[in-house]
Amino acid sequence: MLIRKAPDLTYADVTPKSVYLNRRKFLRDMGIVGAAAFAGKGLFDLALTPQVAFAGTKFTGLVKSPFSTTEKQNTFEDVTHYNNFYEFGTNKGDPAKNATKFNTSNWKVSVEGEVKTPRKFTMDDILKIAPLEERIYRHRCVEAWSIVVPWIGFSFSNLAKLVEPTAKAQYVAFESYFDPSQMPEAKYAGIDFPYVEGLRLDEAMNPLALLCVGMYGETLANQDGAPVRMILPWKYGFKSTKSLVKIKFQSKMPPTTWNRLASNEYGFYANVNPNVDHPRWSQAKERRLGEIFKRPTLMFNGYSDQVAAMYNGMDLKKNY
Ligand code: MTE
Repeated sequence: MLIRKAPDLTYADVTPKSVYLNRRKFLRDMGIVGAAAFAGKGLFDLALTPQVAFAGTKFTGLVKSPFSTTEKQNTFEDVTHYNNFYEFGTNKGDPAKNATKFNTSNWKVSVEGEVKTPRKFTMDDILKIAPLEERIYRHRCVEAWSIVVPWIGFSFSNLAKLVEPTAKAQYVAFESYFDPSQMPEAKYAGIDFPYVEGLRLDEAMNPLALLCVGMYGETLANQDGAPVRMILPWKYGFKSTKSLVKIKFQSKMPPTTWNRLASNEYGFYANVNPNVDHPRWSQAKERRLGEIFKRPTLMFNGYSDQVAAMYNGMDLKKNY
């Protein structure tokens, strides 16, 4: 079988799960059992629908990442039914229910600001930037729960290098998509949209910072931030902006959604730190989804070797 490498794939090459399901339903509706018998007869093509829904599309030829943990992974079910995505509601089960029709077709990410070559990337452009890796990361939410997820993507630095940040670029601002007509629940969320986040340039360029396009071997589920998001495994989950549409390199520290709302509770850095409690709860322990007993939280979520040096000499109690 010819296996194409992930970066050679385009969004037109791959077949969304919904299309597979539609084909099977089509065949079932026609009373046809044993779909394989009809392969190659053009029947499948008749049942094809326009590829507007990308969630559930398989990737092949993924590169294994040396940054992956060997810890037990959470199930796809866990990771897609316990979400924070306030645009689609504030209860953990809301995004799975409310994001099913989220239209992510013709997606573009504008990369701009203090760069020599600003550019708008389509999803096809993004998939070609670097070989796609599977990175199994621990992901720790500020609310003291955690998950282990096989994400798919590549280091954000690969994209950054393409646009050539200027000497003035000290920070990177990230902005999520926002469309109140597709996200009617957002008006009850109590935070301002679009969701915005930021990193210092060196943090963004750290190899662990993942520009993420998938999970569990396929494109991102809508509720997990389709079609492209950040994953910053040494920081609390709220730093990992979902459904990215704008990335801006800039000289000033960008405002961030949760910091704007409650700066005493959510700092700019938001590095996982078991020694600095949230004003309303302890950060010393966490509950891994699917487990009963809590486990100790690790400094920088266990990624100290890769990231601690970036914060040398900083008071981490002040820069929380
Ligand atoms: N991005 C947007 N646009 N909107 C959000 O509400 N929630 C953040 C982060 N990114 C959020 C977001 C928080 S609080 C967390 S913990 C993670 O997404 C959750 O990611 P997950 O649902 O894929 O686990």
